Amino acid sequence: MRRTLIAGNWKMHGQMNSIRELMSGISEQLQSDWRCEVLVCPPAVYISTVKQLIGDKTVSLGAQNVSEQVQGAFTGEVSADMLTDIGCQYVLVGHSERRSLYGESDELVADKFAAALKAGLKPVLCIGETLEQRENGTTMNVVKQQIDAVINLLGIDGLAKGVIAYEPVWAIGTGVTASPEQAQEVHAAIREHLKQSCTSAAQNTQILYGGSMKAANAEQLLAQPDIDGGLIGGASLKADEFIAICKVAG
Ligand code: PGA
Repeated sequence: MRRTLIAGNWKMHGQMNSIRELMSGISEQLQSDWRCEVLVCPPAVYISTVKQLIGDKTVSLGAQNVSEQVQGAFTGEVSADMLTDIGCQYVLVGHSERRSLYGESDELVADKFAAALKAGLKPVLCIGETLEQRENGTTMNVVKQQIDAVINLLGIDGLAKGVIAYEPVWAIGTGVTASPEQAQEVHAAIREHLKQSCTSAAQNTQILYGGSMKAANAEQLLAQPDIDGGLIGGASLKADEFIAICKVAG
C-alpha cells in the first residue's frame, strides 16, 4: 500500500515572521491520526528554523534543490550531506523552474537524484510536459525521457528509492489544474512505464501530482487510483489551505 504524501513547496517565498506564522498554523491544526505524511520544503536558509519550529510534531522536512557535487569549490551550492546534516529527509530534484530557468538537463537532474540517495535523502523527481509538448502529443515521451535518465544512471531500484512528482508545466502556478482524468491518465502511464522494468517498483513508487492543487480540487485528484499525493506550491503558503488538503488525504 502506498502512503499518501502531501508536500509543500514554498519556493522563494517567506521571511522569518511569515514562516513562523505558517508553521504555527500548520502545527496547531495537524492531527496525529492522519495516515498521510506531511512534508514541507522551505527555502534553504530557513530549513533549520523550520526544523526547530516542527519540534516533536510529525512533519517531514525537505529542500527544494541540491548540488550534484559532494563537496568542494562550488560557490553558492548546497550538498546533499549538508541537507542530511541539518535534518532534511527529502529533496526536490528537477522542478520545472530549475529545468527551464536554470537549464537543468535530464542528466544533471539524474546526478542530483543520485547525490541525494547517496546522502540518505529521498529525492522527489519532478517531471512534466510543457503546454506545447502536450499539444504536440509528446507528453509521454517527455516524461519517460525524464524518468529514464534516472533509470539509466541508477537502475529501476535506484529510481524506486525516490518519489516521482508529475507536474504538467502548464498547470504550475497558473490556476489551471489538470483534470483528475488527465492527471490519472499520465500517472497510470508512468506506472505502466515503471512496470516494464519492475512490477514491484511500479506498485510501490509514490507518484504525486503537482500543478495548482488546492483544497477545492484535492479530493478529486487524490481519489484517482494512481495519484499518491500532491506537491503543492501556492496553496502550501496558507496554513488553512494546506491543512485542508492534508485533511482530504486523511
Ligand atoms: P503550484 O506549484 O501549486 O503553485 O501550481 C506547484 C509546484 O510548482 O510544485
